[in-house]
Amino acid sequence: MLAALLLACCVYSIVSYLLDPHGLRKYPGPFFAKFTYGWLLWLGITRRRAEKIQEIHRKYGPIVRISPIQLSFSQPTAYSQIYSFNNKVTKSSFYDSFGSTGMGLKNVFTARSKTEHGQKRKLLHPLFTPQVSREFTTRTAVIMGGLLDEWETRYVAGDNDIWFDCVPWMSWMAFDEMADFIFGEPFGMIHSTSDSVSVPKNWRLAFAGRSSLEQCPPRALKLHDIVSQRETYNYFIGLLPPWLKGFGRLVLRTQARSARIFSAFVAYKVTERLAIESNSARPSDLIGRFLHKAGVQYDAFQPESLISELITILVAGSDTTKNSLIAAIYYIASSRTVQSRLQEELDDHVAGRTPTFSDIEDLPFLGACLNETLRLYSPVGLGLPRTVPESGIWISGEHFRAGTTVGVPIYTIHRDQSVWGADAEEFRPERWLQDDTVVAKFTEAFKPFSDGSTGCIGKHLALAQLRVMIAAVFRRFDVNLEDSTRPLHVEDWFVRRARECRIGIRPRK
Ligand code: HEM
Repeated sequence: MLAALLLACCVYSIVSYLLDPHGLRKYPGPFFAKFTYGWLLWLGITRRRAEKIQEIHRKYGPIVRISPIQLSFSQPTAYSQIYSFNNKVTKSSFYDSFGSTGMGLKNVFTARSKTEHGQKRKLLHPLFTPQVSREFTTRTAVIMGGLLDEWETRYVAGDNDIWFDCVPWMSWMAFDEMADFIFGEPFGMIHSTSDSVSVPKNWRLAFAGRSSLEQCPPRALKLHDIVSQRETYNYFIGLLPPWLKGFGRLVLRTQARSARIFSAFVAYKVTERLAIESNSARPSDLIGRFLHKAGVQYDAFQPESLISELITILVAGSDTTKNSLIAAIYYIASSRTVQSRLQEELDDHVAGRTPTFSDIEDLPFLGACLNETLRLYSPVGLGLPRTVPESGIWISGEHFRAGTTVGVPIYTIHRDQSVWGADAEEFRPERWLQDDTVVAKFTEAFKPFSDGSTGCIGKHLALAQLRVMIAAVFRRFDVNLEDSTRPLHVEDWFVRRARECRIGIRPRK
């Protein structure tokens, strides 16, 4: 049976290659990538996708075939040609696996039709304005202050460093932040130093409505593990062609279950939140603002579509911010000159107190450190896959047929030496403080949040939070790396994840 399936796959792959329906045979690339999706899957398994794709661009040039129907482009100019507002490209089938497993509803991230995506985006847009983001940073500062108090109690002792891994702390902090933003209350992870959360024992009941809270008493689960398994599921199922996804689902049954449990957890939290708020209007969190803007009556509200959006937002907003902050700490701590310059700037503006967003929003060196972190680390590093529309599309002077999948890896354009110079692989915030024409050229190739109609909806929030968080850490502590010769160990999923970052802290005089 398995042998027959393998034989059928081989025959299909070779026939497709020979028929060449998308006209891709002339593009170079790794041998197996031309025939099978196995090469991309293999990159997924190695968790070094971004680095490998950069290597093959060095080897084969600016347009490389990375699967039977997928091309990767390395030139920054291709970015706007693919992702610009006016383009008719749509998200590829990669996105089908993400989102609301267990509910069958699309959200802003998974909706592939332009019309459906546009409607969802319009509804969410008022919840992520610069003003909303700015206001929320007051809460960010409080949560961050709580985290740094914990650090001071545990990891400051005389003249000796107590080395610790900041990664789990950042995970708790990012989940607490997003919980506060969405539900109006942190999960309490920093306080409990654990990512344990309550989920209904019978997760199917979480979708049943408010009464389910009494019907299904909660049990404790590790949120980080559930989210990681969900990501494994989404990522690998996303990479498979539509005809192989069913097989993938069979293999990744356990991970699929985690994805459903996570959906249930969010449904449970939303249900709980709506029950608290049914008699009063408190528009200070995302759910409150959503209901206010939409003019929704609590009692008449059908929460499924909101739950579906929040499943994405909770992960999209925590995983990215967490990893960006870890990277910022790692890079800034690895250079004494950079850290001192940042601290001098902070001392000039916020000496002796916790920084607020208005204190630091215009600080140039802080902004340069943040940009340089997002450039070099590239929290989302892959070429976001887009499908060429019926009319075809021109990219980098060549025409591509309908149905081809195209993408520009953000990690690769963030390291393009023709844009960033010979020191593109180095963390050098000063590059952002050069004159305007140089910085304008950088900005063209700087896409940490992507671009166009599907660019990050949480960009303002993320930038404001990260400014406040980085300022809070380095105003209060000198940070050292336990081993400054060790590169940051990163695993590539949809979001690039730092595995470990061991640091020591000393209170600043
Ligand atoms: C440093 C932090 C962040 C980075 C680097 C980042 C990056 C990105 C990127 C590259 C995309 C495009 C993905 C694609 O087209 O497949 C995206 C989309 C998205 N992001 Fe973020 N993000 C960050 C923070 C946030 C935050 C804080 C939120 C919400 C609280 C958020 C919510 C979303 C949503 C909902 C989308 C889908 C938008 C759409 O398809 O229209 N992100 N983000």
